[in-house]
Amino acid sequence: MLPIPFLLLLLSSILSPSSAADFCVADLTLPTTPVGFSCKNESAVTVSDFIFSGLGVTGNTNNIFKAAVTPAFSSQFPGLNGLGISAARLDFAIGGVVPLHTHPAASELLIVIHGTILAGFISSSNSVYYKTLNKGDAIVFPQGLLHFQVQIGGLPAVALASFSSPEPGLQIVSVALFANSLPSLLVEKVTFLDDAEVKKLKKVFGGTG
Ligand SMILES: *[C@@H]1O[C@H](CO)[C@@H](O)[C@H](O)[C@H]1NC(C)=O
Repeated sequence: MLPIPFLLLLLSSILSPSSAADFCVADLTLPTTPVGFSCKNESAVTVSDFIFSGLGVTGNTNNIFKAAVTPAFSSQFPGLNGLGISAARLDFAIGGVVPLHTHPAASELLIVIHGTILAGFISSSNSVYYKTLNKGDAIVFPQGLLHFQVQIGGLPAVALASFSSPEPGLQIVSVALFANSLPSLLVEKVTFLDDAEVKKLKKVFGGTG
């Protein structure tokens, strides 16, 4: 038997209104770490830390991809920090594409809201899974796998994505290969593309070397 005062202490600690473990709103003034942001002092937390209003706004698709991603990750939406979830809005003009990319830290659930999108992924055994998705259709991209979305048909498209991490990360293959200073000869070696193609793509994506 535990002594009564000890039991009362235990009970009061269980029932105490401390919410230290309820959430860890990102303190965006401090650097992020591999496990996310540090917690903002709870006395400074407000309801706006738990609200993100940007998903109703059409993204600017006036770019090479004719597409826009509006992230609602913990950097934009501090209340997500530590909760293992996040979201994004995808806008596609006619001909828009989110090229082959990966989110190293998250699986993704994509739901089509407007228009038609051809979406798919490539497994690590190089099987391909892709399908045309219409309004109300959803697809899941398993964590870390290369995947893509392409607008098709005569209407712009909109999709909402949710992720299994507050900071899913994003690496776009064509940007990684052709938007930096990796020497062309090395790019050719590691991709099997020829010199003319690599130089053309470096111009398109702004790479040097
Ligand atoms: C949090 O803020 C309160 C009120 O400003 C302050 O008294 C407290 O020391 C702060 N706690 C930490 C850990 O900084």
